[in-house]
Amino acid sequence: MLKKIFGKSQKEKKLLKEQNLSEIDLIPSHIAIIMDGNGRWAKKRAMPRIAGHHEGMKTVRKIARCADDLGIKVLTLYAFSTENWKRPKSEVDYLMGLPEKFLKSFMPEIMERDIRVQMMGEKEALPASTQAVLNEAMERTKNNNGLILNFAMNYGSRAEIVRAMKDIMVEVKNGNLTVDMIDESTINNYLMTSQLPEPDLLIRTSGEVRLSNFMLWQLAYTEFWFTDTLWPDFDEETLMEAIHAFQKRNRRYGGLKGEEIN
Ligand code: FPP
Repeated sequence: MLKKIFGKSQKEKKLLKEQNLSEIDLIPSHIAIIMDGNGRWAKKRAMPRIAGHHEGMKTVRKIARCADDLGIKVLTLYAFSTENWKRPKSEVDYLMGLPEKFLKSFMPEIMERDIRVQMMGEKEALPASTQAVLNEAMERTKNNNGLILNFAMNYGSRAEIVRAMKDIMVEVKNGNLTVDMIDESTINNYLMTSQLPEPDLLIRTSGEVRLSNFMLWQLAYTEFWFTDTLWPDFDEETLMEAIHAFQKRNRRYGGLKGEEIN
């Protein structure tokens, strides 16, 4: 799931050089981010929480650009969890309107950069207007071959697993699967990420150190990186810091590295 950077454009090479990453350094293919701290960012400035979310949306644009320039394949962003419905209605309404705001201004660049927009989560429970905007963006970008910008909207990992289990049970009931046939790859195939590689790197901002029901199955072997930086303050430099930390990790997937085996 790691990718060596070869055949980069001049722009990409320049960026890698600036960031002190060599062309053969390992870049994570899939980065997942729990974007946290919008509310605290706003509070520090005596602004309403939604101002923090607005600023957070601008960070999404900045980080999507940077991920694309670096040749990252998938960027999954936790934009709204199944638990976020508990927030005041005015805040939920604002969050539900963000995809439209974001896509309206960013779509030309999305097309130019060949970015593919995707979403995972219980789409049917989103307001019709949010669904429409996301559907349109997914449809318009479905043949794009660059970065996959995957929004987790109304996403909860436990709900995702429950849904997958039910779908598998139906297949067993209908005789398309037997219990003995079920293995890890079967479960992978019924998750919302079935078409994506597992995340190599998980980032959570704002100093919180928990998963909050995010990609529990998919993160089994992912490297975690936490920062105190609030999401609206997260920038290209912070992303590079996370990637550099990732590159120093020794990923063994439960086994041993060559030099450790004697
Ligand atoms: C958590 O911070 C953040 C969210 C629940 C929303 C995240 C959404 C964005 C960053 C914008 C998404 C953009 C698009 C285009 C969909 P918090 O509000 O819980 O912060 P706090 O812990 O400081 O209160």
